[in-house]
Amino acid sequence: MTSELREKAVAVRDNAYVPYSHFHVGAALRGASGAIYVGCNVENVAYPEGTCAEAGAIAAMVAAGETEFTEGYVVAGSPTPVTPCGGCRQKLAEFGKGEVKITMATVSGVEETMTLANLLPGAFGRAHMEG
Ligand code: THU
Repeated sequence: MTSELREKAVAVRDNAYVPYSHFHVGAALRGASGAIYVGCNVENVAYPEGTCAEAGAIAAMVAAGETEFTEGYVVAGSPTPVTPCGGCRQKLAEFGKGEVKITMATVSGVEETMTLANLLPGAFGRAHMEG
């Protein structure tokens, strides 16, 4: 099953728009329905306006009407498996339970898997806003 996510993440990575970093990233999320949503990083000449691959996949999932995912995969041309940036860890945590696994990978196939809870320990969550 994870191989299906990898296949889609690797494929969408080809579409990354990265004229500034030249660092292509692909992400795939399996929604609770079983459907797979993909995203790639999209950079901008105004650098902070760029978006990460994970954010793109989340946007695709929500646009399709789903707000929960059960598995994620991120792949990049990095020497070691690419890890989601801090902001993306928070974005992912919004839509996945703590035990959800994110597999991080290199293009050559080296993989490392971590749960959302381990990627974002002490996460700020809804419970903090309950008085
Ligand atoms: N990037 C992602 O898309 N996801 C990650 O997990 C790490 C970083 C992108 C952002 C930017 O376009 C490029 O990689 C270099 O930071």
